Amino acid sequence: MSNVLEKFQMQGQVAIVTGGAGLLGKQFARTLAQGGAAVVVADLNRMTANTIAETLVKDGYNALGVGVDVTDPASVAEMVETAVNVYGRLDVLVNSAALDPKFDPEALARGIPAGSFEDYPLEEWRQALDVNLTGMFLCCQSAVKPMILQGKRGSIINICSTYGLVGPDQRLYQRHGIQTAYKPVYYSVTKAGVLGMTRYLATYYAGTEIRCNALTPGGVFNNHDEGFVIAYSARAVMGRMAHIDEMNGALLFLASDASSYMTGANLVVDGGWTAW
Ligand SMILES: NC(=O)c1ccc[n+]([C@@H]2O[C@H](COP(=O)([O-])OP(=O)(O)OC[C@H]3O[C@@H](n4cnc5c(N)ncnc54)[C@H](O)[C@@H]3O)[C@@H](O)[C@H]2O)c1
Repeated sequence: MSNVLEKFQMQGQVAIVTGGAGLLGKQFARTLAQGGAAVVVADLNRMTANTIAETLVKDGYNALGVGVDVTDPASVAEMVETAVNVYGRLDVLVNSAALDPKFDPEALARGIPAGSFEDYPLEEWRQALDVNLTGMFLCCQSAVKPMILQGKRGSIINICSTYGLVGPDQRLYQRHGIQTAYKPVYYSVTKAGVLGMTRYLATYYAGTEIRCNALTPGGVFNNHDEGFVIAYSARAVMGRMAHIDEMNGALLFLASDASSYMTGANLVVDGGWTAW
């Protein structure tokens, strides 16, 4: 019988994390580095991506920061080329870059609640589709090329959200009975699209070892105001928001051979939020 812990080992493998400068992206980058992979921390915010990679290197890991705009095909191709030129291969792509509106308790002071559907700006809708879906499409398209050359092996992880599975509970954005903001329509639509992309790629690469799965986080605590934390926690089966490191086990599982017979699936880590 094989040793299950060995299946989580990622020595000799190379991973790209887009959105690697983000709240969860930086967790994902460190997790893969801890697993033994060389990690390309890729983000629109090049400076933060570089700083995160430098910190990983100082801590003894193998990492490189790169600037990327996932909506730009040339920039995405350059990101993948850099990974292959520097590290010689590409085994894992984590698509974590996304526009993800953070709750803004001051929104009401500015007039109408942010994110109202009736007058949601077309430009913002288009921009979000561009980053959250077209960006994911471009990153997958570029990343599979070296994976195909390496014997049709690789693992792609697309980061979804509970709001891709169920509609947002807009009551979470009320304070004292007043709607202070709405989770905008693009978030649900693009995150539902992430699952379509995941199943498409998984089945497109049927019969190969190129696997594509989604990881669906629930709400991760990030200094939200008390009203939000109470309302969110009341809706979670586990009665609380996620700690920032609670997606990491699932991420390493999906990236590594520990999930070698898994493709086209969605791993939900939401404290039971979508279970009732
Ligand atoms: N934080 C949560 O509670 C939570 C919950 C569910 C799902 N998610 C999902 O997890 C993923 C990561 O979330 P997060 O909290 O780290 O978000 P975040 O907003 O902290 O990070 C997103 C990162 O994407 C980068 N980015 C934006 N546009 C880009 C572009 N055009 N090209 C390259 N990079 C770009 C940003 O610079 C940022 O660093 C997202 O897909 C998000 O939707 C997050």
